[in-house]
Amino acid sequence: MTKEELCGAACSMLARSYAPYSHFPVGAALECADGSVFTGCNIENAAFSPSICAERTAVAKAVSEGHRDFVRIAVAGSTEQFCPPCGVCRQVLAEFAGDGLEVLLVNSRGEVRETTLGALLPGRFDSGNLT
Ligand code: THU
Repeated sequence: MTKEELCGAACSMLARSYAPYSHFPVGAALECADGSVFTGCNIENAAFSPSICAERTAVAKAVSEGHRDFVRIAVAGSTEQFCPPCGVCRQVLAEFAGDGLEVLLVNSRGEVRETTLGALLPGRFDSGNLT
């Protein structure tokens, strides 16, 4: 899948977002090493804390289908400002991906900003710290 296609997949998930409280739809598309793609959207809850971000929805779909080898994720916001993954999502991505994971941010104008998980989460804590 091209970067444009992955960003398009993330953008198309904005329509599936359930965000009646924040009114801040987010979509994500997570690409694995074998080319498979898992999409997600944010899903909010009246109790607030059970809400889940688009990125973690995509991670849960991928891992529960047996895919853990992530290479790229696109995150689409619905505003002109880019929507970078929150701290919790960065940590969850770091469980399954190295610093080189490509992170593509897409804004409402279709502009794309490229970064990496290593740039977003320097000094990560992961299983290596438990030994
Ligand atoms: N949100 C995401 O889906 N991904 C992020 O990384 C940032 C925040 C969602 C959570 C909540 O539903 C809404 O955006 C406002 O914070």
